[in-house]
Amino acid sequence: MNLPDMSKAKMRNKESVEFIYTNPLVTNEFSGQKYFIKTYGCQMNVHDSEEISGLLENLGFESVDHENDADLIILNTCAIRENAHDKVFGFLGRCKHLKKDNKNLKLILCGCMAQERSVVDEIIKKHPYIDLVFGTHNIHELPNYLMNLDSGLNIEVKSNEGNVFEVGETFKRDSRYVAWVNIMYGCDKFCTYCIVPFTRGKERSRRSKDILREVACLKEKGYKEVTLLGQNVNAYGRDLEDDMDFAGLLASVAATGIERVRFVTSHPWNFTDEMIEVIAKEDNIMPYIHLPLQSGSDRILKLMGRRYTKDEYLELYNKIKSRVKNAAITTDIIVGFPNETEEDFLETLDVVQKCQYDGAFTFIYSPREGTPAAKMDDSIPLNVKEERLHRLNEIVNKYSNMNNQKYLGTTQKVLLVGISEKDSNKLYGYTETMKLVNVKCDHDLMGTIADVVITEAKSFSLDGEVR
Ligand code: SAH
Ligand code: SF4
Ligand code: F3S
Repeated sequence: MNLPDMSKAKMRNKESVEFIYTNPLVTNEFSGQKYFIKTYGCQMNVHDSEEISGLLENLGFESVDHENDADLIILNTCAIRENAHDKVFGFLGRCKHLKKDNKNLKLILCGCMAQERSVVDEIIKKHPYIDLVFGTHNIHELPNYLMNLDSGLNIEVKSNEGNVFEVGETFKRDSRYVAWVNIMYGCDKFCTYCIVPFTRGKERSRRSKDILREVACLKEKGYKEVTLLGQNVNAYGRDLEDDMDFAGLLASVAATGIERVRFVTSHPWNFTDEMIEVIAKEDNIMPYIHLPLQSGSDRILKLMGRRYTKDEYLELYNKIKSRVKNAAITTDIIVGFPNETEEDFLETLDVVQKCQYDGAFTFIYSPREGTPAAKMDDSIPLNVKEERLHRLNEIVNKYSNMNNQKYLGTTQKVLLVGISEKDSNKLYGYTETMKLVNVKCDHDLMGTIADVVITEAKSFSLDGEVR
């Protein structure tokens, strides 16, 4: 085990990372065995689970939909907020009992929580029935670990200063139509509340040629949409010599001719005019931008280390809205950051009122051990934080509903990706602006981009028909 020393993580240097091209192991060693994977957290974890599933199926494992039927249970965890921790250990407690009925059952914990020393210590002390813990930097080693598993608890967590591993098309992708594509790993922003730079390590970009090859291959296989993934995509390429920046990469991905290109997440800091121009110019780059605000108060933004002011954020917001036709913008907001006063909170509400977001993910601040904010005075009572969250959500939902109403009666291009959960006669899909639409149509339209007339607008989704 080689966990990072959090106090040193800020002293990262920019020495170049190594690019390692690997061919994952293919055997039938585990043929007939079943695996169940449960994923918490962001798109990055969702995509890592696609890699883990691919690696396991290369070894002969087959997936099952319920933990009771599995010989191998994997929890791919998230560390962003405290409550994730409780959920994971609650679930693990239940899995422990399954070991009584299936003596061969193996339990694995991986993902961001595995990169936290306190979690590993807790597992050693209280959950030694887990068979393997591995981190976010050595997913490609999983086949190796499984082939050589010792009895008892195996811990394979590496330091967060990793390399870039190119594993080829090893992913078992959840969809046949839309695909995640990592463009970079890690984060160097060190927002003071955030654990990600510690769990995911320093910023490392993939080479553009590898990304473009992956997109071309997805297009060839019939994928209609790619979403370029990074914690802060505007920093793409800054760690590479002689390669593109994010605006260049976006333009090159658009030039592959894939029908839809999306990206998450773009930090408001360093969102360049070139990026805005490329998004505005290329028809296949979708007019949907997730632009996390976090707070509208300059004082809190400074304490958070976000590197922009309220006015700078609003200026960027307005620039995007005026340059990118029909752009939909969503955001992330934290309430109850240490020392947040009612005045600070009102500044946040003011930005929400000015931006009238299409949607927002809103969170109560959760202190994360090892981050600078965890040492700040967090004396706002929980009921005040909850009341702020409630007031914020009311306004956020009002605007999200209002924006959706504008779609009523319009015709939208919807990429149909699945059967609607509530009504199996309907398919669901997404507009260019990332609005969820349930569509009454022939199931043969699955995987196509259909012209859909919007017949009903609700707060969080739309209904439509193909006529
Ligand atoms: N890289 C992205 C965010 C990734 S985490 C960005 O910078 O925009 C997703 C969201 O979780 C963040 O935008 C933030 O709103 C929220 N978050 C992160 N750390 C948190 C914490 N300690 N408490 C509450 N919310 C947090
Ligand atoms: Fe966390 Fe900030 Fe990095 Fe986003 S940019 S992952 S909030 S440190
Ligand atoms: Fe969670 Fe790790 Fe993503 S902490 S939000 S799974 S990068």
